[in-house]
Amino acid sequence: MTVLDRDDPAVALSATAVRVHVLRAAGVSVVLATRADGLPEVLHWGRDVGDVPPADAEDLVLALARAVSPSAVDAPWPLTVLPTEHDGWEGRPAVSGQVAGRPLVPVWRDVVVEQDGQTVTIGARSDEVALRTVLALDDAGVLRVRHALTNTGTDDVEVQALEAVLPVGERAAEVLDLGGRWIRERTPQRRAMTDGVHVRESRRGRTGHDAPTLTVLGTDGFDDATGELWAVHPAWSADSVHRYDRLPEARPLLGAGELLRAGEIVLRTGETFTAPDTVFVWSDAGLDGVSARLHDSLRARPGHPRTPRPVVLNTWEAVYYRQELEPLLALARVAADVGVERFVLDDGWFTGRRADTTALGDWTVDADVWPDGLGPLVAGVRALGMDFGLWFEPETVSLESELARAHPEWFLQVPEHTRTWRHEYVLDLARAEVREHLLDRMSAIIEDLHVDFVKWDQNRDVVQTVHAGRVGLDAHTRGAYAVMDELRRRHPWLEIEACASGGARVDLGVLERTDRVWPSDSNDAMERLPIQRWTELLLPLELIGSHVGPEVSHTTGRHLDLDFRMAVSLFGSAGIETDVTRCSPAELDRLREWTALYKRERGLLHSGRVHHVDLGDPGLDTTVVVAVDRSRALVRVARTVTGPRSLAVPLRVRGLDRARRYRVAPVTGLRVPKGSDVTPTPWIERGSVELSGAVLEDVGVRMIALAPGTALVLEVQAIH
Ligand code: DGJ
Repeated sequence: MTVLDRDDPAVALSATAVRVHVLRAAGVSVVLATRADGLPEVLHWGRDVGDVPPADAEDLVLALARAVSPSAVDAPWPLTVLPTEHDGWEGRPAVSGQVAGRPLVPVWRDVVVEQDGQTVTIGARSDEVALRTVLALDDAGVLRVRHALTNTGTDDVEVQALEAVLPVGERAAEVLDLGGRWIRERTPQRRAMTDGVHVRESRRGRTGHDAPTLTVLGTDGFDDATGELWAVHPAWSADSVHRYDRLPEARPLLGAGELLRAGEIVLRTGETFTAPDTVFVWSDAGLDGVSARLHDSLRARPGHPRTPRPVVLNTWEAVYYRQELEPLLALARVAADVGVERFVLDDGWFTGRRADTTALGDWTVDADVWPDGLGPLVAGVRALGMDFGLWFEPETVSLESELARAHPEWFLQVPEHTRTWRHEYVLDLARAEVREHLLDRMSAIIEDLHVDFVKWDQNRDVVQTVHAGRVGLDAHTRGAYAVMDELRRRHPWLEIEACASGGARVDLGVLERTDRVWPSDSNDAMERLPIQRWTELLLPLELIGSHVGPEVSHTTGRHLDLDFRMAVSLFGSAGIETDVTRCSPAELDRLREWTALYKRERGLLHSGRVHHVDLGDPGLDTTVVVAVDRSRALVRVARTVTGPRSLAVPLRVRGLDRARRYRVAPVTGLRVPKGSDVTPTPWIERGSVELSGAVLEDVGVRMIALAPGTALVLEVQAIH
């Protein structure tokens, strides 16, 4: 910790500087200055500036002290961690609200700043509210900011915004975030940064298929490997705000937070609103550098899945709602035979659920379809050596259900005001009795069958919500989190997958209580390449479900070769989602070899560093996963469309140890595609090639001229 305690008249130019706090980890520093008369200011967030001894701290504060500019506030003002117009800031305020009809613009006093290791806690008071802000820099260099406001006055306080913001370098010139839709989630969009206040709202009531996920500001021309970037992500599964401000009188600010609807958060005296964590990542190594920090940060969590990620078979695209014991046992037998380790029974098992129009809410096993319950299926699955997983959609309700008839008052969306979406409405999980009901029903089944894995689905946007006379999204979302947390507490072995019509719930809020996400309903491997790549911006491969779908994709009608589908699924938390009882013996052999390959390589894939390599051919998608000790790597080169050249480009492999020598060979377990060259690629015909890491990175190895819809997976092994 660096502490500067001076009352230097020079420093006083920018209001008396009293203390400097420095957080440092993994090549990142965050430098905060606290002045006598307000909240701390972040002087620097970015590359590690090293230790800041007191004398330097004094000069650093002075170096960044503001002068008064023409046509501006008549005194220097700091850009604090929670800027408002009271400070002199005329961009989007980080905190706003109302108290007794007056705007909430707190004038902070009694500011206390404490540092414990890499965490700074700020406490402050105003006439109406008290603030507690925590900034914690973890060992991966990822900064989490959490603000909490408590009503300390006598009037109600309506909080309309409580967002985390940090300054970025003036050299930031471009902005990238994600958009998308159902079966095309996380599509990147990129543009030049411009002046002004830029706000991107997400109002889907769940994270959303088109969620920004991360807003990344970067230096001109940044790419996967290069450029200095500042990124933000709100760890929240409902409405959010992503924002950047570029105003002439201040450094650019980047931030995010929960989007609060009118009247949603009203604090009575003594009540506290704690905003979801906002996650900030800086990197000078391009988009992969941002991902590396996020992946390291997630992998260091105590709750991160540590057991090998099992090969899953999910029944959805195999049988849809046609559930019957014998065919499902037959499916399970073939699944186990090809190496599946977890059998997941998807939608359709509960009372009255023969289509997506009915029965959500009635979480008892359907006695017509399952006269002896699910026990015989689960026993069969276990006898074959597999785990058992089960689908639920706990937050929603069908009008055509026992639950809707018994408890019309439990709806969060009022049917008279809201349209159905997939024939369903949302339950009010802010109500304790709703949470209790769900916990009782789900726990009974989980306990009875010893369910290992719950696929927690949520198939509609949550709009026009009313809880106790107000918009109820915040409380509902926290209620859903509470049910997940309690399920895990009651059943400590349980894993949960976060699914929302595919990938409409990919965020670090839900991932605090779940073990993987289902990134898309598109099992078309071609479509999933970009979906997975951009999900990897936030998440490591072990948290991203990826299944081998049918030969003909049900979402696009595209035919894809089995090896291509397997190559795409390999780079994730892998599984199968097709009717394997219809596969030929030859296809089953190939699936068996592939599951063996996944089991051999998942240790590397689920701990290694991901690099995306631009080979100068827009038709190629190249992903490299390098072991932490750089002794091995797996490389997948997939062709989506034909390339501009008739001779295939060389593959350059990033992230290896440049001084070591590696053997490069096609991986065992997937076939080498034939390609369109007239003669075979010489080194592949020989079987392998041995080169240094430097040559592999700078020169590369010649690729096969892959046809669209084929992929080559290579193994790179250090030989000394
Ligand atoms: C949407 C999910 O994304 C699918 O995988 C499947 O579980 C269906 N819901 C079932 O209704």
